[in-house]
Amino acid sequence: HIPQQFQRTSYHFHPLKNWMNDPNGPMYYKGIYHLFYQHNPNGAVFDSKIVWGHAVSRDLINWAHLNHALEPTHPFDINGCWSGSVSFLHNNKPVILYTGLDSSFQQVQNLAIPSNFSDPFLEIWTKSSHNPIIVPPNGVERHRFRDPTTAWPGPDGGWRIAIGGQTSYGGAAMLYGSEDFVHWYQSRFPLYSSRDSGNWECPDFYPVKLNGSNGVDFLNGSRVGVVKYVMKASLNSHDYYTLGSYVPEKEKFTSDSGDGFDLRGTNLGLRYDYGKFYASKTFYDSSQKRRILWGWVNESDSREDNIKKGWAGLQVIPRKIWLSKTGRQLIQWPVKEVEKLRTNHFSLYNKELRGRSTMKVLGGSASQVDTEVSFEFPYLEEAERVDTRWFDLDPQLLCSKRDASVNGRVGPFGLLVLASNDLSEHTAIFFHVLKAHNRYVVLMCSDQSRSSFREGVDKTTYGAFVDIDPRHEKISLRTLVDRSIVESFGAKGKTCITSRVYPTLAVDDDARLYAFNNGTQSVVISSLKVWKMSNAQIV
Ligand code: FRU
Repeated sequence: HIPQQFQRTSYHFHPLKNWMNDPNGPMYYKGIYHLFYQHNPNGAVFDSKIVWGHAVSRDLINWAHLNHALEPTHPFDINGCWSGSVSFLHNNKPVILYTGLDSSFQQVQNLAIPSNFSDPFLEIWTKSSHNPIIVPPNGVERHRFRDPTTAWPGPDGGWRIAIGGQTSYGGAAMLYGSEDFVHWYQSRFPLYSSRDSGNWECPDFYPVKLNGSNGVDFLNGSRVGVVKYVMKASLNSHDYYTLGSYVPEKEKFTSDSGDGFDLRGTNLGLRYDYGKFYASKTFYDSSQKRRILWGWVNESDSREDNIKKGWAGLQVIPRKIWLSKTGRQLIQWPVKEVEKLRTNHFSLYNKELRGRSTMKVLGGSASQVDTEVSFEFPYLEEAERVDTRWFDLDPQLLCSKRDASVNGRVGPFGLLVLASNDLSEHTAIFFHVLKAHNRYVVLMCSDQSRSSFREGVDKTTYGAFVDIDPRHEKISLRTLVDRSIVESFGAKGKTCITSRVYPTLAVDDDARLYAFNNGTQSVVISSLKVWKMSNAQIV
């Protein structure tokens, strides 16, 4: 039996059919949220001759698709309308900056302006007669110069943007300035760069408040002592970020950590998400004073499968994003609007989950659920010792060596989602507490190895550390399950892992949810809540 179009999701944003990659130019305008996205309208595969799809929403969950906002039409974008951003100019007027692949496949930056600013749907966009407004500078390869950021005001009252690419000094967010948004000059120094890295895609640069979860944008008070800055770039299939300071007068971002992005390939550095997640972009939502993150989630099956399915690519449920109390990392949490889809609440409290045991949570279908669970571990001292210092460990490697089926001591414990009745198919999201020298480390894993009987599917296990002290804190997990996507948030959004899975048995009414503990030591589920999720309307 062919399961529902190979597990097409029911409440995640997607085009009605065909290919989607990066989110572009998200914004809030006149009561409406807008999302543009890289879209191939002619097939379920990437094609460089890509267009900007466009959809609108009042709540970030239910969407109406409009006509494409940008299509390749002119010599400056005839081979593709690639990623870019929306900026609000004076008087709150949104404009688009995007990368065009010109008639010689060179990457240039173009400007587009709404034809009618009073239309809240901003349906028609006019390309500037000045295009291209920026061409690759000397020393930058013509096909490594793209993805302009949202603009921010410079100290002189002009505009600044960053453009991703590769320079003679490594991957970089190149800095540009302009007074009129049409004529741009390149700054002598990049906003940020990293010698050991290749091409940077989709840079994002924005302030976050030092206190509280509200967002800020550059215009309403980015003062020293009140905010920190986030610099993010997409490279090596991941979205890396680093926190730091930005002195507008010097036009320079300085990373707190000194070496900026952690590109050692050990999965130890700061990333938005340690699973499948790429080319993300944030925007400031002035209506609710929050910053929101969108990110593209690719498929894990093959190009041939995508052609058969007729679709490929999702966006995550948009996440509110802010600085943690420690100031060491960002916190992400699905926007509260997604909770409107919750139905049929089930909960339990203070239940012991003995060592080596499994517990069925929901009797009925669990193919679309939102779950929040928190664990206590009375036998923490029994945690297994590892001989290495924690910062020499690669959490993803640890997770695949000690997968969900390995018997540990304090863990692995967690959830089995999209599980078949006989448990032969399942995706395991779990924690493992270890003792590395003098400290406890909490490992969070998403194990896809038994997620599907289908072959030719990437089932890599993902993992990351969670920055909590298990002596004083419970471990919480929130997981959003939507047929072929699993988005997990450890410790209230400190560590996020997204995965794609394509079960063959655990589908529709046959998908189950379990809690499990493969450690020798009991853990206690202090609370567990599950909601079935209804479908979003995407029309
Ligand atoms: C990132 C990316 C961008 C580019 C776009 C093309 O996924 O490669 O750098 O603008 O996709 O679709």
